[in-house]
Amino acid sequence: MGRIPRETIDGILDRLDIVEVLSGYLQLRRAGRNFKTCCPFHNEKTPSFVVSPDKQIYHCFGCQEGGNVIDFLMKYDGLDFPEAIKTLAGKAGVEIPDYAGSGNASDSLYSKICEANKMAGTFYRDVLKTPKGKAAGEYLRARGINDEAVSVFGLGYAPREWEALSKYCRSRKIPADVLRKAGLTVASEKGRNDYDRFRDRIIFPIYNERGVLVAFGGRAMDGKLPKYINSPETSVYSKSGVLYGLNLSKKGIREKGYAILVEGYMDVVAPFQRGINNVVATSGTALTSRQVEILKKYTDTAVMVFDSDQAGEDASLRGLDILVENGMRVRVVTLPAGDDPDSFVSREGREAFYSLV
Ligand code: UTP
Ligand code: MN
Repeated sequence: MGRIPRETIDGILDRLDIVEVLSGYLQLRRAGRNFKTCCPFHNEKTPSFVVSPDKQIYHCFGCQEGGNVIDFLMKYDGLDFPEAIKTLAGKAGVEIPDYAGSGNASDSLYSKICEANKMAGTFYRDVLKTPKGKAAGEYLRARGINDEAVSVFGLGYAPREWEALSKYCRSRKIPADVLRKAGLTVASEKGRNDYDRFRDRIIFPIYNERGVLVAFGGRAMDGKLPKYINSPETSVYSKSGVLYGLNLSKKGIREKGYAILVEGYMDVVAPFQRGINNVVATSGTALTSRQVEILKKYTDTAVMVFDSDQAGEDASLRGLDILVENGMRVRVVTLPAGDDPDSFVSREGREAFYSLV
């Protein structure tokens, strides 16, 4: 491949904050102007790994490991330079033109993770249609989600087993370390197999704006906590850079001239099923400038419809600031007490929802 131009690399670095990126991998704690944690590159009990937001570098005073965000990814995930750049480009929302990878592009960790995600998505969808997925199917029906929405959103079910997905992927020659780096499995104690991250949960595949399957959200069907488990940050997934539903809604957003911004997966699925085709979710995080930047490619107007509770109100207010700071026009809808967009639209229907908006 041709070398990745220096300007492209600088453009990516400009858009990323080392603290935000590393927080996807490490538990950083604030220490004055910097952040600290135990070093992931050597064994230690007291934190000597320091991240500087001013200098955009990290340094470990224990093992002397250090560098910028590219060095971190190369070391932490065992990536080569182009792979690290590609990963970071994904997080920064920068396209690398004609990227061919180092050697064969399909060999890159990025593509391997995408392949594993695709396989997992198929697995979860298929399980939903088997006897093992019966209760999950009933749960979805009871929540008013029809078969078409299940298929459009690719909803699935992760069975109540420790190694269901692992075995499925193993027999299809996906290496264990790829599954782990995709966040689909979790490392176990020494000598034991990795186990499936998602078990006995309804699965919401998360696509980026280009329709690449980058992560999953899994909802418990009983009162089990946490209610949702999500994929961790990976080489292809950065939570702060994805809006759930955008792959499906971007057309509707362009046509209608604005986006409806909601909090949760179900708040996208339920309206979309009823023909409200310009809705995206922040997925429970506070809205980030990265998300706003992505949204701005499609519209400069957002209507926030957050849950009618304290958490929802707080989230709206924070989101409002970020939208306005980034030059968006914003309106905020207040739902009746106790409602979220899903419950409101399921009860009152599309017209009532649009007239509120
Ligand atoms: P909500 O608690 O409002 O859930 O969280 P919801 O979307 O209305 O889901 P239902 O209707 O109870 O099924 C909003 C969003 O916050 C994230 C999820 O993305 C969820 O859709 N979340 C919530 C988590 O990631 N983890 C949690 O434990 C809870
Ligand atoms: Mn809800």
